[in-house]
Amino acid sequence: MPMLLHLRTSFLTIWVHQKLVLLIRKMEEEYTCSLANAMGREQLQSSQVETLLRIKLLLKSPSLLSSWKNDTDFCNSEPTATLTVVCYEENITQLHIVGDIGAPRLPENFSIDSFVTTLAKLPSLKVLRLVSLGLWGPLPSKFMRLSSLEILNLTSNFFQGNIPPSISSLEHLQTLILDSNNFTGRLPDGLGSLSSLAVLSLKNNSLNGSLPHSLGSLENLRVLALSNNNFSGEVPDLSRLTNLQVLDLENNVLGPRFPVVSDKIERIVLRNNKFTFGIPEKVQSYYQLKILDISSNRFVGPFPVSLLSLPSITYLDISENKFTGMLSENLPCNDELDFVNFTANLLTGKLPSCLLSDPKKRVVLYAENCLETGGENQRQISFCKNEALAVGILPHSHKQKQLSKAILALSIAGGVIGGIVLVSVTFLVVKNFLVKTAAQKPLPGYTTENASTGYTSKFLKDARYITQAMKLGALGLPAYRTFSLEELEEATNNFDTSTFMGEGSHGQMYRGQLRDGSYVAIRCLKLKRNHSTQYFMPHIEMISKLRHQHLVSALGLCFEYYLDDSSVSRVFLVFEYVPNGTLRSWISEKRVRRKLTWAQRIAAVTGVAKGIQFLHTGIVPGLFSNNIKITDVLVDQNLVAKISSYNLPLLSENMGKDQLQNFLGVSKDFKSARAKDQDKLDIYDFGVILLEVISGKPIISRNEVEVLKDQLQASIIADDTSRKSFVDPAVKNSCSGESVQTMIELCLRCLLKDLAERPSIEDVLWNLQFAAQVQDAWRGDSQSSEGSPISPLRTSRLKLSIKQ
Ligand SMILES: *[C@@H]1O[C@H](CO)[C@@H](O)[C@H](O)[C@H]1NC(C)=O
Ligand SMILES: *[C@@H]1O[C@H](CO)[C@@H](O)[C@H](O)[C@H]1NC(C)=O
Ligand SMILES: *[C@@H]1O[C@H](CO)[C@@H](O)[C@H](O)[C@H]1NC(C)=O
Ligand SMILES: *[C@@H]1O[C@H](CO)[C@@H](O)[C@H](O)[C@H]1NC(C)=O
Ligand SMILES: *[C@@H]1O[C@H](CO)[C@@H](O)[C@H](O)[C@H]1NC(C)=O
Ligand SMILES: *[C@@H]1O[C@H](CO)[C@@H](O)[C@H](O)[C@H]1NC(C)=O
Ligand SMILES: *[C@@H]1O[C@H](CO)[C@@H](O)[C@H](O)[C@H]1NC(C)=O
Ligand SMILES: *[C@@H]1O[C@H](CO)[C@@H](O)[C@H](O)[C@H]1NC(C)=O
Ligand SMILES: *[C@@H]1O[C@H](CO)[C@@H](O)[C@H](O)[C@H]1NC(C)=O
Repeated sequence: MPMLLHLRTSFLTIWVHQKLVLLIRKMEEEYTCSLANAMGREQLQSSQVETLLRIKLLLKSPSLLSSWKNDTDFCNSEPTATLTVVCYEENITQLHIVGDIGAPRLPENFSIDSFVTTLAKLPSLKVLRLVSLGLWGPLPSKFMRLSSLEILNLTSNFFQGNIPPSISSLEHLQTLILDSNNFTGRLPDGLGSLSSLAVLSLKNNSLNGSLPHSLGSLENLRVLALSNNNFSGEVPDLSRLTNLQVLDLENNVLGPRFPVVSDKIERIVLRNNKFTFGIPEKVQSYYQLKILDISSNRFVGPFPVSLLSLPSITYLDISENKFTGMLSENLPCNDELDFVNFTANLLTGKLPSCLLSDPKKRVVLYAENCLETGGENQRQISFCKNEALAVGILPHSHKQKQLSKAILALSIAGGVIGGIVLVSVTFLVVKNFLVKTAAQKPLPGYTTENASTGYTSKFLKDARYITQAMKLGALGLPAYRTFSLEELEEATNNFDTSTFMGEGSHGQMYRGQLRDGSYVAIRCLKLKRNHSTQYFMPHIEMISKLRHQHLVSALGLCFEYYLDDSSVSRVFLVFEYVPNGTLRSWISEKRVRRKLTWAQRIAAVTGVAKGIQFLHTGIVPGLFSNNIKITDVLVDQNLVAKISSYNLPLLSENMGKDQLQNFLGVSKDFKSARAKDQDKLDIYDFGVILLEVISGKPIISRNEVEVLKDQLQASIIADDTSRKSFVDPAVKNSCSGESVQTMIELCLRCLLKDLAERPSIEDVLWNLQFAAQVQDAWRGDSQSSEGSPISPLRTSRLKLSIKQ
């Protein structure tokens, strides 16, 4: 028998996906022709003829197989698109039976088991294509007896149940296509051992669960098509699949991370999944990438404009995401790029002119953005800016002209740090309050360009003053940003109880560890009524500004939406995690912790004072009446004190209408927010903290404050020794007398009944700094420093106090 009959299917390894089918057909035709011409007659083993006839019977003798008789010359019949039998010597090596599209299920008395048992009598089969035949039932393990199989195509049947793990024993398999069946459950791990596999296509089934990591070891894979299933979780690392050309994951629930693939990729389709994190830089090196469809995901972040000019790109769909960024007219794009869909994102600027150049050749869609091109199909630019802020991306300018304004805005919005813990804070009540207010009175200016960017002209005028205050706190924090829910779930092990830190009246607090190893505290607020992100803009802007060295700072937030109407169902506020206990635990708690030294105490309360100063003057409008207690002051690993609880106006019950208007930028004057000594309430609370820090005695009740205050008052007029008798014994012998005196005087002034008599926060800070200086000097050279009547620093303090 001539050798040319030997069909080799290993040519599969040189396929590209698009040519796949054509190529098979062509090879098959060529092969069949040469067979017919060179061979003349070919006799099948009679047992194989019987097998084919039995197959016909089991398939309920469809009209398609009417030509199959006991005397048919199977090996020499003309192959057709629907029916092909190919033989090699006495054996059948290929069988293609393709029924009508939409063929119904075979009747109940069809037995997949008998069918496969019969098929298994053709053990030389290398190519088996049984399409649209109504086959149903679970794929029996017996199937694996067809151990020579190289191509298996069972598209459009009614197979159900799991893909059997034993499929991994078909070790010659190069193409596995099970599209449009009813397979369920997870992908078997063993798939990873099919080392010759070049095409894996499981589209349109009901497979679910996460993708096995072993997919990442299929080094010969060229096509991975898993669209229209229910796969979830991260896509395993596919970077070792250096031949991968097609990745089709459409319509699953995969994410949030963009898949990692090698740079030979030609087609990436991620449409309609849960991918969130931005497009990795690596994509810009996919020089063969023709088709990129990432539409209908949750991508946030700037759209990388370099995608437009990838050398091979022809089709780009990023619609229905939250991509931000500014396009401009002179951006380059690839000549071959003939389809672009930008619809429904947050893009600003102008459409690149290269896209508009040849409207006949190109389809370019860009409705529902904030582009200058496009007129009424565009949203208001303020919408895009607000939404961009909502997803944590601060607007930034590409244009030199706008730079100064932008920098100012940026330094206001992003430059400040602060921490919040909304312990006493009631999101819901205020929310409802807001609803009412909003209903009674439209919030003027909020939808206009000016206010919606968050910065009124008044605000900008005050900005210089504010930036000064901001400089007092050096930032060492990651940028304020949006978190994805998946990220938070991962960080907290799905909000596992072991990560639970506590529960306030309006939400739980969890401790989480982010992928980069850092810890965060996550407060989860459930919302009874639903609003769009737009509604939360004032909250977001406020929270994003609460970043300061001496506040437990906001790192970002995450909205959870209802799928049906995109309204917000939950808000997660992410704060830095401050690990080292409360200030009290370092001062007065009888615990193993060593106590703070005198100098460390001064530094700690200075931190608290700076935090208060920031709350009062570092943001507009300031936050007053914060009701700060020593237990709300947390201490980090460097013993830096951070205020963890304060009065965020929009979240607090006792917010007045004035404050609300003020907050929304519609109020009169910035200074008026500080009117009537409202800042002095915090000064009193600070005095109480000071009292505990000096005395080392835990202060639980208001009454104790009065008692201690009286003792202090008495000691102040006495001598150094008697003053020191009031000081915490743990530090009594290592503090300078003048430092102690300064602190005690300051403490008493803070606790004065008359608000106006209490020192300003700036005054407090200068006194604390003075106390620190004299303590320092005393430690260095106690002789000369102690008792020196008036130090230069004190002089400057006095001058400055007068200036206030
Ligand atoms: C083929 O089938 C016919 C009846 O359909 C029968 O008469 C004939 O004997 C069969 N031939 C062989 C070789 O089995
Ligand atoms: C044909 O199949 C039989 C078993 O069915 C096998 O023994 C034989 O070697 C095969 N012939 C060729 C040429 O593969
Ligand atoms: C199988 O069922 C079909 C109808 O559903 C019937 O016509 C046929 O005779 C049955 N075959 C057997 C072998 O029972
Ligand atoms: C598998 O069968 C389907 C249905 O006929 C066809 O569209 C597809 O191209 C086939 N795939 C291969 C690789 O033959
Ligand atoms: C998906 O498969 C079902 C049968 O399982 C079929 O009816 C439907 O047309 C298929 N859809 C696509 C898009 O192929
Ligand atoms: C898939 O299976 C489910 C349950 O087993 C069934 O409800 C559904 O109709 C099936 N779909 C198809 C196309 O057979
Ligand atoms: C995916 O799962 C959801 C719920 O778990 C279900 O409603 C949906 O029908 C499933 N989709 C498919 C294609 O199986
Ligand atoms: C996968 O689907 C099956 C039903 O087909 C269901 O029982 C199982 O819970 C699903 N698994 C996951 C992870 O969704
Ligand atoms: C472009 O994207 C929008 C939003 O996803 C979609 O409705 C529209 O059908 C897309 N256009 C084309 C031609 O795909």
